[in-house]
Amino acid sequence: ATLTVLNGPNLNMLGVREPGLYGSKTLQDIQHSVERLAQSLGHTLDFWQSNAEHEIVERIHQAYRQGVDFIIINPAAFTHTSVAIRDALLATKIAFIEVHLSNVHAREPFRRHSYFSDIAVGVICGLGANGYELAVQAAHQLLQERTQ
Ligand code: DQA
Repeated sequence: ATLTVLNGPNLNMLGVREPGLYGSKTLQDIQHSVERLAQSLGHTLDFWQSNAEHEIVERIHQAYRQGVDFIIINPAAFTHTSVAIRDALLATKIAFIEVHLSNVHAREPFRRHSYFSDIAVGVICGLGANGYELAVQAAHQLLQERTQ
């Protein structure tokens, strides 16, 4: 199957950005490990990051046109603000898992609300970079169940 991993604003700064919260791995490190995992499970995975809301909306539309089977998304700060990205996911009806490196429930109160969690298949947060790999594994199982 084809999987798309979407990363929102400031995630290009991983490794440098608040390592106590987000870990020392770079986004490229995460990309390499999830690409390797997806490949070993027989999937094609596209890993992508943008700091711009409209680009993420357009990337979701593109995923729809390309027939992408599953999305893994860390919307970053847009988690707490973006009706537009929520609406793009609703419009395309592509199943997705929401991932956060940090435990958003143990931080500032404004991070507790997500525009995505109620429409996500599942949410993974607080497990660092490993959360992306867990999401790929979960997507793999869900896609297998779909074809059974
Ligand atoms: C984040 C959590 C968000 O609250 C924050 O704005 C981010 C990263 C995470 O992965 O923990 O940029 O999505």
